Amino acid sequence: MLASMIGVFDSGFGGLTVLAALLKRLPVYDYLYLGDSARAPYGPRSLEVVHSFTREAVEFLFDAGCPLVVLACNTASAQALRTLQQRHMPAHRPDRRVLGVVRPSAEALAGLPPGAIPGVTAPALTKGTVAVLGTKGTVASGSYALELAKLAPGLRLIQQACPLWVPLVEAGELSGPGTEYFLRKDLDPLFAAPDPPSRVLLGCTHYPLLLPVIRPMVPPAVEIIAQGGLVADRLADWLLRHPEMERRLWRNGTRHYATTDDPEWFARQGQAILSTPIAVERVRLKSWP
Ligand code: DGL
Repeated sequence: MLASMIGVFDSGFGGLTVLAALLKRLPVYDYLYLGDSARAPYGPRSLEVVHSFTREAVEFLFDAGCPLVVLACNTASAQALRTLQQRHMPAHRPDRRVLGVVRPSAEALAGLPPGAIPGVTAPALTKGTVAVLGTKGTVASGSYALELAKLAPGLRLIQQACPLWVPLVEAGELSGPGTEYFLRKDLDPLFAAPDPPSRVLLGCTHYPLLLPVIRPMVPPAVEIIAQGGLVADRLADWLLRHPEMERRLWRNGTRHYATTDDPEWFARQGQAILSTPIAVERVRLKSWP
C-alpha cells in the first residue's frame, strides 16, 4: 500500500515557509513537499498555464500517495483551485481533497478565527482598510477581493502586486540597499494614501523571508500577517471537522521533499528555511492530456 501523506505544493521553495508552520503545528503526520522550481516563478504566468502546471503538480502528489494536498502557493490557489475543485476533482479524483490558502488568509484578514462562520460564530471586521501583497497573478485573479467581499463586505481592500520581490528572494537578496529600494517602491504608496491599511497580508510564500526588512518599513501599529501559522491553524481545524480524511492520514512524522530542478540547490534553500538538513529528490511531472 502507498503511504498516506499530506502533500504540500508550491511553485518553488517559498512554500517551505508554510510547511515549517505545518510541521510545528501538526508534526505527527507524514508530509511530501513538491516545489516546481524548474518552472517558477508562476506569478507572471497566464491563468491557463498556472492552471495546467498546478494540475500536473497535484496529480503527481496524488500518485505519490497524498489523499490531501495543500496548495501553499497563493498564485496557484488564486488561479487554479476553484477549477480543480469544481471540474477536475469530481471527474477524476472524487476521493481526494485539495485545499488552498486564499480563503483561510482572507478569514484572517477579516479577523475571523479558524472555523468561524461569518455572521454566526464571530464578528468580522466591519470597516477599515486591509491590504494584500502578492504576485501579479494573485492580484489579477481578484480571488482575495472575492473572498473578502463574502466574509466582510464593509472592509476596503487594497491589492498591491510586488513583481520584483520573488526574484529578489530567489536570488538570495534578502537585505541590503537594493532590496530595500524595491520593497519601499511597493510599500510606501500604501501608507502615503489617505486611508492606509491597518492589517497587511503577505500573500505570497516567499515574502515572509523578507519580513526583517519589511517590518521596519511599515508603521508599528500595522499588523503584518504571514500565512504559515494561519494556514496551519486552519488545517488543524479542517482536519477536526473532516475525520474521514484525518483517519486516512499516516502518523509516522516522516517528511519527503521533491523538486523539478536541481535538488542540491533546493536542499540548501530548504535547510536555511527549516533549520535542518533535508534530502531532496528530483522528479518529473507528467503533462495532463
Ligand atoms: N509561491 C508563489 C505564491 O505564493 C510565489 C512565487 C511565484 O511567483 O512562483 O504566490
